[in-house]
Amino acid sequence: MLSDTMQAALNEQIKAEAESSQIYLAMASWAEVKGFDGIASFMFRQSDEERMHMLKLVKYVNQRGGHAIISSLDEPKLDYSSFQALFRQLYRHEVKVSESINNLVDIALSQKDYATSNFLQWYVSEQIEEEATAKVILDKIDLIGDDKGGLYLFDNDMKNFTAAGHNIVQ
Ligand code: FEO
Repeated sequence: MLSDTMQAALNEQIKAEAESSQIYLAMASWAEVKGFDGIASFMFRQSDEERMHMLKLVKYVNQRGGHAIISSLDEPKLDYSSFQALFRQLYRHEVKVSESINNLVDIALSQKDYATSNFLQWYVSEQIEEEATAKVILDKIDLIGDDKGGLYLFDNDMKNFTAAGHNIVQ
């Protein structure tokens, strides 16, 4: 059985993962409208992945005798002024998510809830990958700047890039 504190913290994370999914969906839609299909498909996949992170938490909370709460979400407020700005937000967002996962592990350990701490280890590893991927992409886009040819090639590369940082084909 989850403690009230643990349950409340996990429910916060459910909301955070849902918000992540919305943020990436908004970015995907923006990139698609702009004609950057590779970046759009990466963002769509990333959005699906965040939804999967949320669902995993929902199932865990309910399985442990709690009640996973599905709350309403605000429209993501994003800076679409450039691809650099967009990917910087993606990177910062993932860093924030990692901090909240670490915070959840702290709570689990302070409650002696070893099952939840163990469950959260999957998220800890996932965040290492996601943060690293976001950083690699941000470094690339910073290098490209506003160069149109570079952006075209970058968009093409992103078609095969998964959220976990692996190439899909080859
Ligand atoms: Fe589920 Fe990218 O955090």
